[in-house]
Amino acid sequence: MAIIYAVGVGPGDPELLTRKAERILRSVDVILAPVSNPTEASVALGTIREFIDEERQEIVVHLFPMTSDKTRLIPAWQDAATLIAAHAEAGRSVAFITIGDPLFYSTFIYLLRLFREQWPLIPLEIVPGISSINAAAACAGLPLVEADEKMAVIPATAGIVQIKAALDHFETVVLLKVKPLHSDIIELIRTTGREQRTVFVERVGSPRQKVLTDFSEISAHTPDYLSLMIIK
Ligand SMILES: C[S@@+](CC[C@H](N)C(=O)[O-])C[C@H]1O[C@@H](n2cnc3c(N)ncnc32)[C@H](O)[C@@H]1O
Repeated sequence: MAIIYAVGVGPGDPELLTRKAERILRSVDVILAPVSNPTEASVALGTIREFIDEERQEIVVHLFPMTSDKTRLIPAWQDAATLIAAHAEAGRSVAFITIGDPLFYSTFIYLLRLFREQWPLIPLEIVPGISSINAAAACAGLPLVEADEKMAVIPATAGIVQIKAALDHFETVVLLKVKPLHSDIIELIRTTGREQRTVFVERVGSPRQKVLTDFSEISAHTPDYLSLMIIK
């Protein structure tokens, strides 16, 4: 029985991969990379290309549809877990790669539950990664929290009411998945007077990285999925 690894590959910059992640990725037999859109390349796979040997290692790109529809998601999680477990049971080590950190809003969390329930004997190791939040704060040169301050992290999909409540109670609010609610968030930032205290970061760590601090630029920009906001 071989090991299953979950490897956080960081936000997209190969230099932000840990030495442990690199060592494991160079050594495993199989790498499973998630994609949410069959026509787009896997960001996680793009991040680690220089460390892997496609002649020796098997690379599997697995589709996890970007939807909240559980009737589509559960089979995708189950298929991926079954495939990974079959490799491990046959003696092939497998790394499931994930952007940022594997235990921070990652598909791996759903797979982890399945491994624990259905294949409790397969050894599992989780390698943490630099999350998009830490990378974004570093790029913007923006302290996230200090002393006794508190920070909330909210997937914007939780809704504008939750975001407003967080702004009322936390010194720093980080919004993930801002794309679908962008105009509502802009309006909330305006009405709560936080225009000068908002930073927008897109595709941090990649050649397409964008860090915006000017509120008129933030409001005019159409974000893509890999974007977040830090509001102080
Ligand atoms: C499903 S969560 C994944 C979080 C990831 N596990 C992490 O540790 O950063 C996806 C959200 O994370 C944020 N994100 C992930 N990578 C990013 C990047 N390179 N630049 C900006 N935001 C990113 C975006 O808000 C995106 O909608």
